[in-house]
Amino acid sequence: MAKSYYVTTPIYYVNDKPHIGHSYTTVLADILTRFHALFGEDSYFLTGTDEHGQKVEKAAAKRNMSPLEHCNETVVRFQELWKKLGIKNSDFIRTTEERHMKIVRMILQDLYDRGLIYKAEYTGHYCVPCERYFTEKDLLEGGLCPDCHRPTNELVESNYFFKMGQYRDWLVDYIKSHPGFIQPEFRANETLGFLRKELGDLCISRPKSRLSWGIELPFDKDYVCYVWFDALINYISAIGYGSDQAKFEKWWSMAHHIVGKDILTTHTVYWPTMLHAIGLPMPQSIFAHGWWMSGSEKMSKSLGNVVNPMDMIDVFGVDAFRYCLMAEMVLGQDASFTEESFVKRYNSDLANDLGNMLSRAVKLTIKNFDGRIPEPGEYEDVDKELMTLVQAAPAALRTAVENMRLDRGVDEVMNVVRAANRYMEKTAPWTLAKQGNTARLGTVLYTAAETMRVVSGLLLPVMPEKMKELRMTLGLSEADAVCGDYEKLSSWGVLTPGTAVKDITALFPRIVPKEEEKAEPPKAEKKAETRPEAKKTETVAVGGDSVVTIDEFFRSQLKTAKVLEAEKVEGADKLLKLKIEVGSEQRTLVAGIAKAYTPEQVVGRTIVIVANLKPAKIRGIESQGMLLAAKSGDTLRLIAVDGGDFPSGCSVG
Ligand code: ME8
Ligand code: MG
Repeated sequence: MAKSYYVTTPIYYVNDKPHIGHSYTTVLADILTRFHALFGEDSYFLTGTDEHGQKVEKAAAKRNMSPLEHCNETVVRFQELWKKLGIKNSDFIRTTEERHMKIVRMILQDLYDRGLIYKAEYTGHYCVPCERYFTEKDLLEGGLCPDCHRPTNELVESNYFFKMGQYRDWLVDYIKSHPGFIQPEFRANETLGFLRKELGDLCISRPKSRLSWGIELPFDKDYVCYVWFDALINYISAIGYGSDQAKFEKWWSMAHHIVGKDILTTHTVYWPTMLHAIGLPMPQSIFAHGWWMSGSEKMSKSLGNVVNPMDMIDVFGVDAFRYCLMAEMVLGQDASFTEESFVKRYNSDLANDLGNMLSRAVKLTIKNFDGRIPEPGEYEDVDKELMTLVQAAPAALRTAVENMRLDRGVDEVMNVVRAANRYMEKTAPWTLAKQGNTARLGTVLYTAAETMRVVSGLLLPVMPEKMKELRMTLGLSEADAVCGDYEKLSSWGVLTPGTAVKDITALFPRIVPKEEEKAEPPKAEKKAETRPEAKKTETVAVGGDSVVTIDEFFRSQLKTAKVLEAEKVEGADKLLKLKIEVGSEQRTLVAGIAKAYTPEQVVGRTIVIVANLKPAKIRGIESQGMLLAAKSGDTLRLIAVDGGDFPSGCSVG
């Protein structure tokens, strides 16, 4: 029987909108699910929202709303973001749903009936941001929370307690005898360190007089259930515990919890002891990843230093953002978030390595084989060398994913891409084309296309849309393009010679880093994309100036263009976004002319652009070309067409 895989994210508090941290965990779980599906496993992915407790009640009160009204509004922000991020969760649980609340009540009643919940006088300290109780001795100096270092409130009241303390020895044994239960390993040690102290019983109620927003205790209507006790149960209530036994058994035996390190103890101490008391087996694993930091601080709603994922989607696009989130964080460790490091990662891995490789392979096929995948001839050593790397990639990636080394797995695939680019340089297909060596050229281009087929299949879980596009460019059918078949990815020779490839626009247009956005228009990229041999003949210095041949000059297509619309780019004082007409085509272009021209001054003018410049993303806007302007010191003037009305799209030169 095929293995199955059940993965969960934390259910997020709906006190505010989601940020990069929440996106990371959810994207990670989505990618893991897609990978396990690729490996042939039946997969189930649960996420949702944690809607009870003081934090949410306070957030609602601040907005003069009932807690449920507030939840109903805020939950949409999470659901919409997940949709936008391409998240394919199997279910979404809200703790205010009856299907969940009834299971919580059932469990509470059962534990109470079995004497595992009792009532007692309580003196303690409560941290609202963490929704956690602490005893006097846990607190830092000044009564601060030991976890988040914020003030706590003192509480003296009668409450209900879950007999957690009695399970300490059992839990220590379980953790020690189940390596991999808590991951990474150092988090298991951290939990064992915590368990070295005495383990108290867990206060699981709040009197309604203090907090009414929660699930009422079935055995005492004056109390509601403590939010963490309620929330953790989502992992079993959602998959049918107490309502659909077959479904529950199928998934629970294969459960993997992904959480951030901020909620380690609740997941590695509270939850296992709760499950043990209920009489259920432990999940397979609890993995705590690190934090996205803003400088030296955790990115968090309450610290107000969060980055809005929607803005990042605008800059990078969904798939590239997913890729950067995975590639930029060593799974398990903290990582510092900066937009610049994402731009760097995007440009080097996606725009350069992956984008160039694809465009080389496809463009040369279009030019030399009438756009059809060529027939490979005899493979030479250099081809076999690349082939060996490609064929080893699926297993290497699978091992990395299974060991929760996702960033490393992705890097393994990118290593193949880098090797493929080196392969192109070594075999120089552009020279083979010039020499008319069609047989050898066919072998090289077939090898390149097969490499891209495998690489894109392996990256489908990370970038589902972009990799689908890439795979369709290679001539795969839509069905094959979206389905990474692990067997096929581990085999060579799947692409059928004669299949038509598709012409491509840049899959990942280069993003111009903010510091490069000077007053002048963006410079043409120096690197030739499909013909690196052009470097050899590039430029010759004469008296400090460069000489180019007429052929080289005409590689840039200069054309006339009419400015239809113009507007300022928000947050960039030098940039104007233009809509231009180039013959029958309309394009968007971002130009560094805002200090010299207002939008009104440029609309209606006929200017000159470089029409075949590789598109680049500037402040999240794809600029399709570059306009020409003359510059003297700070003064800038557009190059425009002399005289009266002149059509757009005409050649200049
Ligand atoms: O704790 N870096 O919800 P929450 C990385 N409702 N991940 C981050 C992050 C950051 N800077 N900030 C948040 C709760 N996260 C409870 C969970 S589960 C039964 C109940 C992610 O809204 C990370 O996954 O505070 C973290 O554990 C989670 O969001 C906390 O979300
Ligand atoms: Mg939190």
